[in-house]
Amino acid sequence: MKALVLAAGTGSRLRPVTHTGAKQLVPVANKPVLFYALEAIAAARVTDVGIVVGPSADDIREAVDDGSHFGLDVTYIRQEEPLGLAHAVQVSQDFLGDDDFLMYLGDNFVGEGVAHVAAEFRRQRPAAQILLTAVADPTAFGVAELDAEGRVVSLEEKPRVPKSDLAVMGVYLFTSAIHEAIREIKPSARGELEITHAIQWLIEDGRDVRSTISTGYWRDTGNVADMLDVNRHVLDSTVVDHRVAGDVDADSRLTGRVHVAPGARVVRSRIEGPVVIGPGAVVVGSRIGPHTSIAEDCEITGSDIESSIVLCGSTVRDVPAIAASLIGRHTSVVSARPGETHQLVLGDHTRVTLAS
Ligand code: G1P
Repeated sequence: MKALVLAAGTGSRLRPVTHTGAKQLVPVANKPVLFYALEAIAAARVTDVGIVVGPSADDIREAVDDGSHFGLDVTYIRQEEPLGLAHAVQVSQDFLGDDDFLMYLGDNFVGEGVAHVAAEFRRQRPAAQILLTAVADPTAFGVAELDAEGRVVSLEEKPRVPKSDLAVMGVYLFTSAIHEAIREIKPSARGELEITHAIQWLIEDGRDVRSTISTGYWRDTGNVADMLDVNRHVLDSTVVDHRVAGDVDADSRLTGRVHVAPGARVVRSRIEGPVVIGPGAVVVGSRIGPHTSIAEDCEITGSDIESSIVLCGSTVRDVPAIAASLIGRHTSVVSARPGETHQLVLGDHTRVTLAS
């Protein structure tokens, strides 16, 4: 079995961070969200992986390289235009051949991994198998309707009136039957070749389409709130010990579970875990509250920050209360002196909420 990871999406809901970098490379607990997908694929004993890339191809190639770091053999496939998930499969035909494959959306975070569903598929080899999970608002996703035996009887993409609360998670398993289905479907109203329609075609053609219902943690990290939620989940579940490789001075207090990477410095500060502080980061006279990831080479001085992600090389100085924030690379957030005005130099599509 092969794997196909879709990483061509532009991440419009994560702007401005995604103006200058791939959404699949936004770090969660200081590790790109895409890396969790690649690790999950390796854990499912799939090594031959195609990554479908778009405008951010160079960044993804630089980060993942030939995949050997993950125990994978990676082939890059270019999708020139964002014409849908089924279109991404179509442009990957040469790589996939007639092999079975696991398709994984590169911005999805699947807490329980994919080894169990891959094993089930290998045993039963239906034409398609999808992962489903109950969500509060199914209208934002592909939605499945099941019969009494749990077989998929219909699939709809972002329906206005959903037939169930079961959303299609970004993990699919296919035999080569899917290629035939994709040849038969037409672009949707949003102009895309939808994988949901291709699976619906298989159902109507009488093929075996199965589902596995997941109760584990899952998020599509397409927007800031979900990205911060994944950060919280990963910090809670992976920062399970105290690991201090960097320098922490005697005037600092670390509580809870905290990772301080080699080359990082913590001076006169309070760190309340779970928190990760990346290599070369410097935290002085500050409080870093729970569920915060500070990436490499950041400088946090005289500030208070919690439930946030700060990307590499950023500076936060004399800012008393930052929460639920995503701060991009090489960004500067500093306090004005009393009587001074707010001065802002902001990228396109930036959002700032000022507390007066
Ligand atoms: C895609 C699929 C949708 C699925 C979702 C999961 O939507 O089309 O069926 O539920 O991923 O993240 P998109 O994120 O492209 O809007």
